[in-house]
Amino acid sequence: MQVALKSCKIIHLVNTNERTISVRKILVTNALPYANGPIHMGHLLGYIQADIWVRAMRAMGHDVTYVCADDAHGTAIMLRAEANGISPEAQIANVQKEHIRDFDGFGVHFDHYDSTHSDANKARASEIYIKNREAGNIAVRPVTQLFDPEKGMFLSDRFIKGTCPKCKAEDQYGDACEVCGTTYNATELLNPRSTLSGATPVEKSSDHYFFKLPNFSEYLQKWTRDQGRLPLSIANKLDEWFESGLSDWDISRDAPYFGFEIPDAPNKYFYVWVDAPIGYMSSFENYIKAKRPDLSFDDFWKKDSDKEVYHFIGKDIVYFHALFWPAMLEGANYRTPSGLFVNGFLTVNGQKMSKSRGTFIKAETYLEHLNPEYLRYYFASKLSDKVEDSDLNLDDFVQKVNSDLVGKVVNIASRCAKFINTKFDNKLSATCAEPELVQSFIDAGDSIAKAYEAREFSAAIREIMALADKANQYIDEKKPWALAKVEGEEQQVHDVCSVGINLFRQLAVYLAPVLPTLAAQVQEFLKLDRFDFASAQTALVDHEIALFQPLMQRVDPKAVAAMVDASKDSLAAAAEPVKVEKKKEKKTEKKPEPKVGEAEVIGIEDFMKVDLRVAEVLDAAHVEGSDKLLQLTLNVGEAEPRNVFSGIREFYQPEDLKGKLVVMVANLAPRKMRFGISNGMVLAAGNGEGVWVISPESGAKAGDKVS
Ligand code: MSP
Ligand code: ZN
Repeated sequence: MQVALKSCKIIHLVNTNERTISVRKILVTNALPYANGPIHMGHLLGYIQADIWVRAMRAMGHDVTYVCADDAHGTAIMLRAEANGISPEAQIANVQKEHIRDFDGFGVHFDHYDSTHSDANKARASEIYIKNREAGNIAVRPVTQLFDPEKGMFLSDRFIKGTCPKCKAEDQYGDACEVCGTTYNATELLNPRSTLSGATPVEKSSDHYFFKLPNFSEYLQKWTRDQGRLPLSIANKLDEWFESGLSDWDISRDAPYFGFEIPDAPNKYFYVWVDAPIGYMSSFENYIKAKRPDLSFDDFWKKDSDKEVYHFIGKDIVYFHALFWPAMLEGANYRTPSGLFVNGFLTVNGQKMSKSRGTFIKAETYLEHLNPEYLRYYFASKLSDKVEDSDLNLDDFVQKVNSDLVGKVVNIASRCAKFINTKFDNKLSATCAEPELVQSFIDAGDSIAKAYEAREFSAAIREIMALADKANQYIDEKKPWALAKVEGEEQQVHDVCSVGINLFRQLAVYLAPVLPTLAAQVQEFLKLDRFDFASAQTALVDHEIALFQPLMQRVDPKAVAAMVDASKDSLAAAAEPVKVEKKKEKKTEKKPEPKVGEAEVIGIEDFMKVDLRVAEVLDAAHVEGSDKLLQLTLNVGEAEPRNVFSGIREFYQPEDLKGKLVVMVANLAPRKMRFGISNGMVLAAGNGEGVWVISPESGAKAGDKVS
């Protein structure tokens, strides 16, 4: 079997069993989870994906270091600690323990798990900042922001609510109106109030430190287009940002803030997203200091390093990793990541995870009810290198795990092992009776390895399951259980079962990156010293095996139901500190919209100014970084389709809108939003309980005037 090589990355050659490969030295990281809440199913998608990749690359002989850390800073964590009545340090220490326990429970096995609140990270963050300052990439200027006089702190947009300056909807956050989709500055909100204390915020000015991102505009445009650096879909999305022009990035927060103080700037702290990715470096640094003195920090992180660095991240944090992070590194004369591997979002039973439906499932709750390898397998069967959302459909989950893992894979061993154990003194045949069949399984390792390396896990799983079908077919045809009853057929039984065990061994080796616990059990059962790809190149003959033990139970649908049930309760408790804030918000009753007839009277000439048109939704998509907006591509009968952002994400799935006819305001001035330019507005009815997009009767066509 050969392993796909990157010719430019040959470090040194080692001789594994049968062949020589070039060992690549790779650093892999996962996004650092915030230290203010538990790990849940959504998180696990990206962590399991990275862990499988790391295990697969190691199984192919590469030297992979895999680190992570808790993202320990920021206002949310500070407030969570306050609500829990403990210090931020105690808060992050408690959560870190839980996170480590949960990752461990799912076999996500980091070499090192650190915290961004470490000495090494503080030193590295200061150094990167100072180097950027010396290079002219930092600016200081005053910023006027809303300030909570009761709490004595500046308020970020999500801690301010008030009335939309445009449509006058009540109870809107400080950045955008969920009803009309307008984005604005928090200072423009009418009747603003702090969600932390209820106080009316006051405007206050203070100096802020900025990272001059536009200095890197050209550099980043090239960087994001470099071969293999980013998924193409992401690079295309980033173009929208380049087109509307990059802005300076505000990297400071005023005290009180839980974070690192900025050098030479008393009472100013680094915004959490400054020192968070630096945590990748400091976690690696702390790890090699303690455990891998043969690796060198500089060797990995110096400019033009020939080592590989990959970050596995979710699609919501692409901007930080594809713009700010490489720019900060470049500005401080470090290397930038070789690639960003981006996962889509997880839904459960086709919908956003929900506490009331019991589909907001914590890692901890899952582990109380189900085997973690079921989930690793299910995710693997869905994941590819594309940035696509995945759905954990719980019925499909039960069905797939039972039919594939229990019904196909484990079944091969249980059908063959008992004969070897009871009739042949635990020994496999002295010769391989089906060398071609076994060889075809060995040969398949090549493309399975390539699929893993390319993060095409679903393709790898499909191939492995096709082999499992083939193995079961072979056993079905030979019927060792029938032969065992015929006198004089002992050798046949021995041969067939030995072939079956060999086929099973190949499958288990190929599945090992996904199912490490199962693989370890099989390794023990087969009494093998090694269980990597290179060690599974020849059939086992005259080989002693251990007594077969049941390997994996069927998923019990009752256990799944119990897990969903338990999720309904357990998360209400976990979210408690946030609820305290929410309760306060709820006290302020929503004012109803003006009743029909109460709105200001306008003349027909005013109405005629509004160019209402029928539009066809060509495409609808979630907007990364916004839980309110959908991005719509609309055909309004013009040469080019229009791009419109609409604040209806909570109420519509993109699929529900595709192909639909809607009504839009076509002559609304284009509005520049954080995510791109919005060219119009889609009409929708709303009553506080829901939002319904207005759609013409069938027969109307895109571009038709509405009057
Ligand atoms: N702390 C930041 C990351 C800093 S990296 C320098 C963060 N933390 S997080 O806890 O909110 O998310 C951790 C990871 O889980 C991110 O990659 C995020 O995209 C991912 N996910 C969180 N919810 C998810 C789903 N529902 N589905 C898939 N991935 C999700 O972001
Ligand atoms: Zn509004």
